[in-house]
Amino acid sequence: MAILALILATTLVNALTLNTPSSLTASTNNTVSWTAADGDPSSFSLELLQPQLLNGPLGIVPTVNTSDGSVTFILPEVPAGSDYTIEAVGVSNITNVLDTSDSFAISAAPSPTTVVLGQARAQVSPRPS
Ligand SMILES: *[C@@H]1O[C@H](CO)[C@@H](O)[C@H](O)[C@H]1NC(C)=O
Ligand SMILES: *[C@@H]1O[C@H](CO)[C@@H](O)[C@H](O)[C@H]1NC(C)=O
Ligand SMILES: *[C@@H]1O[C@H](CO)[C@@H](O)[C@H](O)[C@H]1NC(C)=O
Repeated sequence: MAILALILATTLVNALTLNTPSSLTASTNNTVSWTAADGDPSSFSLELLQPQLLNGPLGIVPTVNTSDGSVTFILPEVPAGSDYTIEAVGVSNITNVLDTSDSFAISAAPSPTTVVLGQARAQVSPRPS
């Protein structure tokens, strides 16, 4: 087992590489691609990260087939902004980060989407003076 772990660790030098998207658009189909290498797991998960706008990693594709080379998925309605990154992580172990993309921007959905917010806003009464 120790030898196998050493071989795997050595192979990681030449492992899965995510291609950084030029930009993505919220609430629409987006495509992310990667270059696989020998020793990569046969599948992995994709997560979206943005330290200021997201409350921790957001799973965007639960399972992708490594040999496919790309995946098209509908991005959730995340806030528009820059400094987003995508991580390829183990399907059953998200702390096993296979690769992280460089940062890119996400733009807002092209037309207003009909999102039902669901909750009435609380009325704030002015303080009696
Ligand atoms: C995403 O792409 C699929 C397959 O091409 C299509 O059926 C679907 O309507 C698209 N969804 C959106 C929100 O664009
Ligand atoms: C991944 O894709 C390859 C080629 O299309 C296919 O042979 C294989 O069965 C797929 N694996 C999974 C887990 O879907
Ligand atoms: C998950 O992956 C991390 C990083 O590779 C590793 O240290 C940890 O032991 C793994 N956990 C399990 C339960 O496999």
